[in-house]
Amino acid sequence: MRVILMGPQGAGKGTQAAKLEEETGATHIETGDLVRSEIKSETELGQKIKEYSDKGELVPDEIIIDMTKPYLDENDSWILDGFPRTQEQARALDEALEDIGEELDMVIVLEADDDELVERLSGRRQSEATGEVYHVEHNPPPEEGSEEDPGPFVQREDDTEEAIRNRLDSYHEQTEPLKDFYEEKGILVTVDASKDIDEVTQEVLKAVGEDK
Ligand code: AP5
Repeated sequence: MRVILMGPQGAGKGTQAAKLEEETGATHIETGDLVRSEIKSETELGQKIKEYSDKGELVPDEIIIDMTKPYLDENDSWILDGFPRTQEQARALDEALEDIGEELDMVIVLEADDDELVERLSGRRQSEATGEVYHVEHNPPPEEGSEEDPGPFVQREDDTEEAIRNRLDSYHEQTEPLKDFYEEKGILVTVDASKDIDEVTQEVLKAVGEDK
């Protein structure tokens, strides 16, 4: 299975990709996570890309393509989350697939309103220990002090209102036009991501033929 999960920031790409990975066994490749790991490792590259990431700007194409390609080559079956985000990246992905004689199965676009997305991202919390993503209201973590308590939690540095607005602007300007590109290929499926998490999961699983 080779699927792209596309959608504006906060639409739930990471949330749904994790569920899809669980159900199908395909590898979840999340470029935002690759970027954050590189920054955490404090490499020269990490320092360079931190400036972009903290402001909510896209990392330059040649850097993100070089970072992502090895993961595409290593895995036969994947769910791509956060890539491609520009025409250049979409072309690079096509070339990488052509090189191995394979094709994309599907591009699933998660759609929701910007105002709802800002609210979601402001309430996002991530467990430092497990990396699991929660929402203070829509997907609260297990109770504090309980056996399953995965705290402490962190808020992402780019989850400030200013960086969120920047990320949404860049999505509408640079990434959203890719919908036409994939629509022409006949592999675009749109899912209403304003519904609650489980309902969206059902729609996503239906799209890939894994609903029960
Ligand atoms: P990245 O990590 O990909 O950030 P993003 O695009 O801003 O996406 P998010 O992770 O914020 O949103 P999501 O859709 O995954 O939402 P989530 O499931 O967490 O990228 C970070 C940075 O890396 C970029 O800004 C850029 O600098 C760089 N980068 C990455 N890829 C790049 C590329 N290809 N090119 C260039 N640069 C790149 O959900 C959000 C919250 O909402 C959670 O709290 C969740 O619990 C909650 N939630 C989810 N679904 C629902 C629902 N249905 N109802 C209610 N709440 C929900």
